[in-house]
Amino acid sequence: MTDTIFITGASGHLGRAVIHHLLERGVAPSKIIAGTRDPDKIADLAARGVVVRAADFDDKPGLVKAFAGAHTILIVSTDALDGAGTRQRQHSTAVEAAVEAGAKRLAYTSLPVPETSKVSFAPDHLNTEKAVKATGLPYLLFRDNWYQENLFRALPHAFAGGQWYTSAGAGRTAYVARDDIAAAIAGAIVNWPTQSTTYTLTGTEALTNEQIAKLASAAVGKPLQVVDLTDEQLAGGMKAAGLPEAIIPTLVSFDTATRAGDLALVTGDVEALSGRKSKPLKVFLEENKAVLGA
Ligand SMILES: NC(=O)c1ccc[n+]([C@@H]2O[C@H](COP(=O)([O-])OP(=O)(O)OC[C@H]3O[C@@H](n4cnc5c(N)ncnc54)[C@H](OP(=O)(O)O)[C@@H]3O)[C@@H](O)[C@H]2O)c1
Repeated sequence: MTDTIFITGASGHLGRAVIHHLLERGVAPSKIIAGTRDPDKIADLAARGVVVRAADFDDKPGLVKAFAGAHTILIVSTDALDGAGTRQRQHSTAVEAAVEAGAKRLAYTSLPVPETSKVSFAPDHLNTEKAVKATGLPYLLFRDNWYQENLFRALPHAFAGGQWYTSAGAGRTAYVARDDIAAAIAGAIVNWPTQSTTYTLTGTEALTNEQIAKLASAAVGKPLQVVDLTDEQLAGGMKAAGLPEAIIPTLVSFDTATRAGDLALVTGDVEALSGRKSKPLKVFLEENKAVLGA
């Protein structure tokens, strides 16, 4: 008999995709508990027989109730990036609630090299990893590299002006399709290893922004020039462009981290866990050329 698997953040892109892959792998819908702050958003999953529960990391008593009876819990990191410690508090609450509810195994979505990463919110992930380990429960940590889908934020803007402003220099990123990450996570949960394991989920190749710009340019059919800046120049450009000041240090830290090589690690973990070929970045760019070059 399959034990119950609780997936938090089930209305988000990743949580929903993990549930999709669990179902594809033959996990009975009744064994999957989908947690979300807004159950209405996943009425389609309820209609398929997935158990849907309200679950909010800002409501610990409610979360303990939601987690009741769950054997394995995947805690999907939240999107709170206010720089005020909200996300760290939310994740700590989720880990504590899982233990109080009697969970037997924990999994968590982190980011590569959280011990040293220059990404501004890496400490949130490192501290959550530590909290997960401190429970003493069997665990899986999924250190997810940047999604290919993140390029939906950077590239349309860059193509509009023909220039991609970056301070990443010659740093490389092993972008990975979000669905490949989800497939890998589902695979690991279903075939839970005998030892607690930390995976780094990456694409199959790490490319510089210059290389990505060339591939994107060929896919979209428009020129794209990479403009190398310092972190300070990049921050200044973002401010001049009207980005909210509070988010600028975080955005710049992505380029700092890339330059430092924090996102360049390539592992075979995604294909090993998903059991399928991962999507190369070139294919992602070609599939999405209309949106990326719009
Ligand atoms: N590796 C990368 O490139 C990358 C990029 C973006 C984000 N991320 C991280 O990976 C996570 C999943 O990615 P995604 O693409 O699925 O993001 P997404 O679609 O933006 O979803 C955000 C997620 O945060 C959850 N969440 C927010 N506040 C919450 C709260 N108070 N309690 C419980 N859950 C809360 C949402 O759950 P509900 O709305 O269902 O409650 C949802 O699953 C993100 O939240 C972020 O931590 C990684």
